[in-house]
Amino acid sequence: MLAPMEDVTDQAFRLLCKEFGASMVYSEFVSADALIRNVNRSLEKIRVDDRERPVAIQIYGRDVESMVEAAKMVESEAHPDLLDINFGCPVKKVASKGAGAGMLRTPQLMLDITREVVKAVKIPVTVKTRLGWDVPSLYADIQTGSPTDRPFILELALRLQDCGIKALTIHGRTRSQMYQGEADWTLIGAVKADPRIHIPIIGNGDICTAEQAEEAFRRYGVDGVMIGRATFGQPWLFKDVRTYLDTGHHDDTMTLDWKLNVLKRQIRASVAYSLREDNALKERKRTELGGIIHVRRHLANSPIFKGIPDFRQTRIRILRAETQEELFALLDEAKEKIVKSEE
Ligand SMILES: Cc1cc2nc3c(=O)[nH]c(=O)nc-3n(C[C@H](O)[C@H](O)[C@H](O)COP(=O)(O)O)c2cc1C
Repeated sequence: MLAPMEDVTDQAFRLLCKEFGASMVYSEFVSADALIRNVNRSLEKIRVDDRERPVAIQIYGRDVESMVEAAKMVESEAHPDLLDINFGCPVKKVASKGAGAGMLRTPQLMLDITREVVKAVKIPVTVKTRLGWDVPSLYADIQTGSPTDRPFILELALRLQDCGIKALTIHGRTRSQMYQGEADWTLIGAVKADPRIHIPIIGNGDICTAEQAEEAFRRYGVDGVMIGRATFGQPWLFKDVRTYLDTGHHDDTMTLDWKLNVLKRQIRASVAYSLREDNALKERKRTELGGIIHVRRHLANSPIFKGIPDFRQTRIRILRAETQEELFALLDEAKEKIVKSEE
């Protein structure tokens, strides 16, 4: 599955990942408060295209009322296949206000929100969270916070399941870790292995290759694997993972030309999406450059540009280009350098 990522998993990117084999795609998180206030940009974020189904829209917030109201709005306006609740975002502006991963410090409120959201909508509700707030909390009693020998995430998973969620995604880090250190999959595996857990458990964190995805399924028994950062600049990763899971071999049909064409499509789609968004919002601020800036993160991280000798200047020009035309010419130039480096 394609992980929800703010400013990354817009519809244009989701459609590409879907096309290359992602079983399910998630929207970036959308603020419940902003949705209720009818903030245009948030309304735009919950738009769903039938071609990306099954698709989940993810919301976050810090109280029962706004989350229930936002959940109903998402259901009636966007008709996604799933509504996902974010209890994992570690960034200060979200977590320190008690939303996202901040809910790990108020598990009772997390459960109240989940229960009421599940009751308020007909579509399946799922949750994405982390292992705990910090290292001491990994083995803290969910009610008292005192040390115990039972994993916090296991107790939390059982209670979330009792609230009626249909799947749980666990990112194998604490909030304090942010995105540092390695994801701990053993606790994800412990949740999956508990016989009282009957909802699907989706594991997340540090899956970058098809081998790692296969290992996650085999060693930890998870029902699904969610991939985030490794998709930057290579939406075709899903195609390779899927082929590898099905056959035990990598997908060798993806040539350099093919990958460069995918990147060109991604650039075109990002620009088109940016223009469409401006149209919908009746804004004229972002235009073509908006789409280019949006796709730069992918170009900067694409594995096809890694390890090529004398590539620095081309890379800088790629990251500074301001039009689609310029970028396409630079990708053609990059191709020549890559081919040369492979000779
Ligand atoms: C740029 C960025 C934005 C993210 N935004 C969200 C988000 O909106 N909702 C969410 O649940 N997680 C978000 N995450 C976390 C990812 O979904 C995922 O849990 C995390 O990156 C670990 O998976 P990975 O190692 O495969 O990247 C974000 C991560 C990144 C890097």
